[in-house]
Amino acid sequence: MLQQYIWKRKKILRGLVNTKFRKYGVPYDTKSWWDSDFYVSGVSDRQTISPKKSEISSLYHYCSVEQLILRAIFNNNIVTDNIRVLDIGSGSGHWIDFWQKLGAFSIDGIDISQSSVDYLTSKYSSNKAIEIHHGHAANLIRTINRSYSVVNAIGVMFHIIDDQDWSDTILAISDQLDSQGIFVIGGHFGLLDNIDVQIDQNGHINKRLRSKRHWERKLRECGFSTSQLYRNNAYLSIRDTLPENSILIAYKDMG
Ligand SMILES: C[S@@+](CC[C@H](N)C(=O)[O-])C[C@H]1O[C@@H](n2cnc3c(N)ncnc32)[C@H](O)[C@@H]1O
Repeated sequence: MLQQYIWKRKKILRGLVNTKFRKYGVPYDTKSWWDSDFYVSGVSDRQTISPKKSEISSLYHYCSVEQLILRAIFNNNIVTDNIRVLDIGSGSGHWIDFWQKLGAFSIDGIDISQSSVDYLTSKYSSNKAIEIHHGHAANLIRTINRSYSVVNAIGVMFHIIDDQDWSDTILAISDQLDSQGIFVIGGHFGLLDNIDVQIDQNGHINKRLRSKRHWERKLRECGFSTSQLYRNNAYLSIRDTLPENSILIAYKDMG
C-alpha cells in the first residue's frame, strides 16, 4: 500500500533530519526507560510493540517475521532440534516460545527490563528448559558464558543506540556461538546509516537504524563469515504501523 510506504519513508526522512541536521535528542537511559516509559500498561506480545497496538496487527507482525525465519531455517537445513538458544531482549517471550516449539532443549532469555523479567520468570516458572536473566545484554552474555547454536535478537539491536555497546554486544554474541551457529537479527538494514528514528516526548532517542552495509562490516569484524537478508514487506499490506522487521541471518561458518 502506497500510504504505508510513504509513512515509512517519512519516518526515515524525519530521522535523517533529526540526526544529521537538527542534532535533536539525547540518548535514553537504557537501564530505566523500559520500565518507566515503555512497559507502562503491562507486558504482552502486543505491548512489546506499543501499549496501544491492536492484537490483530501484533499477530500479523509476529506471523510475518516467523515466516521469514522459518523460510531461512528450512531452505538452509538449519538444525533446530536439541539445540541451545539465547534470546536477547525477550520481552514477553514470543521468540522463546518459537524456538522451543522448534525443538530447542535449552533457552536463555535476557532482558534489561525488570517488568519483562518478572513477567517471564512467572510465565516459565515450571519450565526447566528456560532460564531468564536480568540485565544488559553485552555484559550478561559474557557472565552467563554458555555456547549456543542460535542467538536470536528480534526488535532489540536497533534499541542499542550506543555504537560501542552495539559493537560489544555483537562481539559477545559471536564469541558464544558455535562454529556452525547462527545469529538471527530483526531490524531495518536499509541504505542510510545511523539514523535515530524514535525520539520520545522528553527528547530521549530510543531507536537507531544502521545500514545493511554497516551491519555486514561489523559482522565480518566480529567473526561472522556471511549473512542473508530476508526483507519483510508485510507492512505494505496492513493499514497500521509495524516495527522494522526484516530478518538478517548471520552465519559463523555456513559449512
Ligand atoms: C521492542 S521489545 C522486543 C521484544 C521481543 N524481542 C519481541 O520481538 O517480542 C525490546 C526488548 O529488548 C529489551 N532490551 C533493550 N535493550 C536491551 C539490552 N541492551 N539488553 C537486554 N535487553 C534489552 C527491552 O527491555 C525490551 O523488552
